[in-house]
Amino acid sequence: MMVILMLSEKMTEALNGQANRELYSSYLYLSMSAYFESLGLRGFANWMRVQAGEELVHGMKMYDYVISAGGRGRMQAIEAPQFVWASPVEAFQAVYNHERVVTGLIKALVGVAISEKDKTTENFLQWYLDEQVEEEESSDMVLNKAKTVGSDPRALAAADKELGQRRFKFPSGFDMFPYGRQPEGTTIGSLKK
Ligand code: FEO
Repeated sequence: MMVILMLSEKMTEALNGQANRELYSSYLYLSMSAYFESLGLRGFANWMRVQAGEELVHGMKMYDYVISAGGRGRMQAIEAPQFVWASPVEAFQAVYNHERVVTGLIKALVGVAISEKDKTTENFLQWYLDEQVEEEESSDMVLNKAKTVGSDPRALAAADKELGQRRFKFPSGFDMFPYGRQPEGTTIGSLKK
């Protein structure tokens, strides 16, 4: 059963704003994935693409929360991300820096929930705070790897192979398409006809 919580206007706006930043994060990492594709580093591109998928889920999870709490989802322009980086190290440094900024944004969002006396949203945001700890750790780990590798071609190939192992997983309980399944036998191709 859907629970109507009635978010305040200020809370709704802040959550919609953060959903936009999460989608921007997805776009940024997709841009980095394309950058690595252009360098022929498909494992690095894979790592970034998985990261882009995770950010998309972060945005959608926030969007779904706004809807389930009786709010109105509001889509706004997504900023264009950077197109090129000077080196893999620079790109991974940018990931780490970006995640630090996002942690600050989530903390500010918690601050809004507290000032609005919205305990439910404050509890909801705990998942994001936990996620940010992981995001900072994993981006620090790959940054250090990229620094160690430097421009040594053999080490670069080994790191590329390793980062190519990363796989995307939806968080437990999250349903990207909650409106029900397509009828048996329906495919995207057949829908287009
Ligand atoms: Fe959704 Fe990496 O912050």
